[in-house]
Amino acid sequence: MQKDGKFQFQRIPAPLLAWYRTHKRSLPWREDPTPYRVWVSEVMLQQTRVEAVKEYYLRFMDALPTVEELAACEEEKLLKLWEGLGYYSRVRNLQKAARELLVRFDGEFPQTKAELESLSGIGSYTAGAIASIAFGLPVAAVDGNVFRVISRLSEDDTVISDPKYRKYLERELSAVYPETKRDCADFTQSLFELGALICKPQNPDCKNCPLTGICGAYKNGTQTCFPVLPQKKEKRREEVYAFLIETPEGFCIRRRENGVLKGMNEFPSHVAENGETPESVLNGWGMYAFNEVKRKKYTHIFTHIRWDITCVWVQTDVAPFDSYALDEIEEGISLPTAFKQCLSILQ
Ligand code: ADE
Repeated sequence: MQKDGKFQFQRIPAPLLAWYRTHKRSLPWREDPTPYRVWVSEVMLQQTRVEAVKEYYLRFMDALPTVEELAACEEEKLLKLWEGLGYYSRVRNLQKAARELLVRFDGEFPQTKAELESLSGIGSYTAGAIASIAFGLPVAAVDGNVFRVISRLSEDDTVISDPKYRKYLERELSAVYPETKRDCADFTQSLFELGALICKPQNPDCKNCPLTGICGAYKNGTQTCFPVLPQKKEKRREEVYAFLIETPEGFCIRRRENGVLKGMNEFPSHVAENGETPESVLNGWGMYAFNEVKRKKYTHIFTHIRWDITCVWVQTDVAPFDSYALDEIEEGISLPTAFKQCLSILQ
């Protein structure tokens, strides 16, 4: 945080808004920014790139255009709409909050940041984005883009995981929001846009930046020193066997009962310990008569865990779990990417 309060936040909005008006991308959630549409887009955009989100967003809005439809959607359809985006708790919370909106707010989004934050899965960032983009309120939404832009402008070496830094930026930025609703909505998005298009993590495009005149990092050539990120923790490594158990009816699928991806569908899998082999795991499920067709190894990275997966394709007449036709698995059953990758073994 700036000890001497020297950085003048009030110098950001005018040049940035002017730049945004001519350079903003046309993105689906920017058309008709209702609170519902803004909310869904922001939840999808957490941890996922804009380009990857676009298609998911359009499909989701087509299938579930209102809070009511989201609240009433059956789980399997909802998970299928989210398949590939990962972090499935986000979509479960989305539905939980939709139900809360119906019960507590008659289906209308509340218009204060504090009330928005009282809904499941809506934190300070998402509440700020809905309040400013959909309602035109002078409320900042600080995401990774905003940390990067501001820490460079002000050459602030506070580590961005420090909760006090987020609060400080929310306070300082909210204090310089423009006058009109439209400008407030645009100001939030202009910070995201500058971070995405100009003030990029690598190779920032300073020669096209509207804020070089007030940028400390530009002046001193210190762009790559900011933002200061927290030290990365080593990911825990797990050896996982995932089984494509082919039966006369199709392939076995079951629901995960614990651990990462709890509650999601999977090809039956097992974290290998103490010399366990694929054969011993299958025996443990009561499978003795099977024919192994093929194995394939791949890796899947979660936030805190790395899975080294051995996918084993076996055929059997007696299945230990329910099985489903391949068409149904591909079209009607949600499968997290970690397991979906198993299907490439069939090619
Ligand atoms: N990143 C996070 N929110 C965004 C938005 N609304 N538009 C573009 N990029 C974003």
